[in-house]
Amino acid sequence: MFYETEKNDHGLPHDPFKSCVVPRPIGWISTIGADGVPNLAPYSQFQNLTFDPPYVMFSANQTTDGRRKDSVINAEQIGQFVYNMATYELREAVNKSAQEVGPDVDEFEIAGVTKAPSKLVKPPRVLESPIHFECVYHQTLRLPGKDPMGTVDIVIGRVVGIHIKDALILPNGKLDILGIRPIARLGYYDYTSIESIFEMIIPGPNEDLRSGMEGAKKRT
Ligand SMILES: Cc1cc2nc3c(=O)[nH]c(=O)nc-3n(C[C@H](O)[C@H](O)[C@H](O)COP(=O)(O)O)c2cc1C
Repeated sequence: MFYETEKNDHGLPHDPFKSCVVPRPIGWISTIGADGVPNLAPYSQFQNLTFDPPYVMFSANQTTDGRRKDSVINAEQIGQFVYNMATYELREAVNKSAQEVGPDVDEFEIAGVTKAPSKLVKPPRVLESPIHFECVYHQTLRLPGKDPMGTVDIVIGRVVGIHIKDALILPNGKLDILGIRPIARLGYYDYTSIESIFEMIIPGPNEDLRSGMEGAKKRT
């Protein structure tokens, strides 16, 4: 089948678009407002962008009534945000924190999760999450879209500090991803979690290419 996105004439009972780019990692983003109220919300339009230095981004549509989302406003005003990894164990809390509430509401409370202080930035971390990135705001890229929700604010941040729960580091020094069981978004209302891993290494003599693939920073 083929369809034009402007016409959206796919003829299917459910829009297939989000199912065509899967799985999408979930950035569970914590911020703090100028008035000091903490904020927490999941973003599956989330990705790491590069590793040396590391940058990540989350992409926020407008609210259902066409306003910029609190995570965006806070990240810009305070100049900081935190990525918390979303796991299968935390799935209900992640979902609860997605409710559209005002900036005066602390979604850590709604989700029933604990605030842990960050080391380098003001927004708190989700204590129950196994991995956190402390990020310094870099830039927002705004893409025009259709009202009320289509316009999107892509928030880019530089990762300045990384927390990893010690118990989730294996004896071989790799992260215990199967133990962590991160969740990710599919299309529709569907999710997946990581339950298997396989390894492939780029063939050929180019060691630098392989080390880029591994995400290894050059050590001087
Ligand atoms: C798993 C999951 C992923 C989501 N991903 C996005 C996303 O990528 N972009 C977005 O704008 N909203 C996304 N949402 C909805 C936001 O979390 C929701 O609008 C939230 O209220 C935003 O909160 P904020 O205004 O405090 O930033 C997602 C919701 C869930 C449950």
